[in-house]
Amino acid sequence: MTKTVAVIIGSLREDSINRKLTRALEKLAEGKLSFVELNIGALPHYNEDLWETVPAEVSDLKAKVEAADAVLAVTPEYNRSFPGVIKNALDWASRPYGKNSWSGKPAAVTGTSPGVIGAAVAQGHLKAEMLNQNMVVMHQPEAYIHWKADAFADDGSITDEGIRKFLQAYVDAFAAFIEKHG
Ligand code: FNR
Repeated sequence: MTKTVAVIIGSLREDSINRKLTRALEKLAEGKLSFVELNIGALPHYNEDLWETVPAEVSDLKAKVEAADAVLAVTPEYNRSFPGVIKNALDWASRPYGKNSWSGKPAAVTGTSPGVIGAAVAQGHLKAEMLNQNMVVMHQPEAYIHWKADAFADDGSITDEGIRKFLQAYVDAFAAFIEKHG
């Protein structure tokens, strides 16, 4: 049965390479995983006072996470960590106290950068934060993707056979991980 995956894309820019990578992963996961993007760019900055009248974007975030079988984050690296927009989303859905929407969710992290280490430091930080949220984080296989523009087409197809095979194995491992831990 197809599993629903709540997807965090850590870049808000339209031409994001992480968004392109997400499209490629979605295509490889067809029939196994169905992606639902979390609109993290619409969230206000975390402010405890806002719980008095819960912003619709926050309710929507929590509902989508809770309805999902798993969480996937596709993150760029900003100054050797993951972008603040992801931390903001993690903080919102972790509250109110005792109602952490992330808790127990199988999760995976990948991401890409034009830098050769492929957002590896950001991914490591994000995995640590996900553990903090009591998510069940897949650590192997890892997928640190050094972005090569000519390997990915805009429609999500992958033209580099080596990268396609590598990412197919990654997606299949995540689907199996969700079956085991979901
Ligand atoms: C970057 N970039 C970057 N890249 C990297 O490999 N390591 C890093 O620490 C950083 N730091 C960093 C900080 C900030 C504030 C920005 C805006 C960018 C470059 C980054 O990988 C590049 O801009 C990617 O294209 C960002 O991903 P999206 O937006 O294309 O998905």
